[in-house]
Amino acid sequence: MANRRWILRTRPEGDISEGDLELIEVAIPDLDEGEILVRNIYLSVDPTNRIWMSDIDAYMPPVEVGEPMRGRTWGTVIKSRHEGFRAGDVVTGGLIWEEYSVLRHAEAVPMNLGLPLEAFTSVLGPAGMTAFWGLSDIGKPRPGETLVVSAAAGATGSVAGQIGKIMGCRVVGVAGGSLKCGYVTEQLGFDACVDHRAGNLEEQLRQACPEGIDVDFENVGGDVMDAVLGMVNNHARVVLCGLISTYNREGDWWSPRRFRNLLFRRVSMQGLIITDYFPRFAEALPVMADWVGQGRISYRVDVVEGITNAPRALARIFDGNNMGKQLVKLSPAPSDIQP
Ligand SMILES: NC(=O)c1ccc[n+]([C@@H]2O[C@H](COP(=O)([O-])OP(=O)(O)OC[C@H]3O[C@@H](n4cnc5c(N)ncnc54)[C@H](OP(=O)(O)O)[C@@H]3O)[C@@H](O)[C@H]2O)c1
Repeated sequence: MANRRWILRTRPEGDISEGDLELIEVAIPDLDEGEILVRNIYLSVDPTNRIWMSDIDAYMPPVEVGEPMRGRTWGTVIKSRHEGFRAGDVVTGGLIWEEYSVLRHAEAVPMNLGLPLEAFTSVLGPAGMTAFWGLSDIGKPRPGETLVVSAAAGATGSVAGQIGKIMGCRVVGVAGGSLKCGYVTEQLGFDACVDHRAGNLEEQLRQACPEGIDVDFENVGGDVMDAVLGMVNNHARVVLCGLISTYNREGDWWSPRRFRNLLFRRVSMQGLIITDYFPRFAEALPVMADWVGQGRISYRVDVVEGITNAPRALARIFDGNNMGKQLVKLSPAPSDIQP
C-alpha cells in the first residue's frame, strides 16, 4: 500500500503557484509497538499554510523545502499496535498533507462523535476554538456593543459572529460578494453584512455601525482593517486573529494606516495564536457543542475531493471561493457509510 503526500518543492513568491508543491508517493512503514495507522478522511487547509511556506520569523518554524506540508487531518484507524485504539476508531492528530498517517498513540486524539465529524473539523476544531477564545479572552464584548467580524462567511468569522450574537452584541460582518453577505445575515443571523468587494467600504460600514465599533474580530487586515480602525469607539478591543490579505505579500507585510486611532481612542489590540489555547479546548468544547446541538451556532464545510486537489483547495481560500471551513476529503466519512 502506498501513501501520497504533498511536499514543499519551492517557496512561493506572492501567490502560490503550481510547482511550489509536489505530490509524492511514499511507502507505509510497518507499525512499531504503540503506533496506529490512520486512513485520513479530511485534511484541513488553512490560510496559515501560506505563512508556513515562507521562510519568515513567524509563530512557528516554516515548513522546510523538501519536507511534507503541515496540516491537520482526521481519520479512521485501520491498524493498531496500541491497546487504546481499535480499527474503526475515528481520531485526529495527523499533521501532514497525506492520505495515511502513522501516529504514536500519544499523538492521536480519539473523537467521541456525538455530532458529525464535520463539526469537529470546523466549529469544534481549531477555527471554532479561535473564535471562542478570541472573543471570550480578548474581545470580551458586552451586550449592546457593536462587534465587527471580517471574513465573516469563513470558518473562523462565521463562528465568531454567531458567538457575538449569543453574547448580545450587534454583529456586523464583512464579506466578499452578495451571496456571502446573504448567507451571513440570513443563515448565520448577523445584524448586517458589508461587501468589501462592492466599493465604498467605509460608507457601508458607517451605515451598518451607527454607534461606532466596540470590538473588531480582525481576520483580514489591509483596507478592511483600515476602514474598521477609522470607526472604533473609545476603549474598543481588536482581536488580531489574522491578516489574510497580506499573506501573499513579500517583504514588509503591511501596517495599519489608522494606527494612531489606537492612541486617540485608547484601543487595545491583542494578537491571538490558537495553539496557546490547546490546553483549554476541553473547557470550551462542551459549551460550543451545546450551542451547536441547540442550533444556536450553525456551521458549514466546503469540501474539495481528493488529495490531488489540496493545493487548489488552498488557493480557494485566497481567492475567496470558499464558504465555511475549507476541507479536502481523502476517504469516506462516517456519515457516508452510516445508513
Ligand atoms: N491566529 C490564529 O490562531 C488563527 C486561527 C485560525 C484562523 N486564523 C486567521 O483567521 C483568518 C480566517 O481564517 P479561516 O481559516 O477562518 O479562513 P476563511 O475565513 O474560511 O477563508 C478565508 C477568507 O478570507 C477572505 N479573504 C481572502 N483574501 C482576502 C483579501 N485579500 N481581502 C479580504 N478578504 C480576503 C475570503 O473571504 P471573502 O470572500 O469574504 O473576502 C476567504 O474566504 C485568517 O487570517 C487566518 O490566518 C488565525
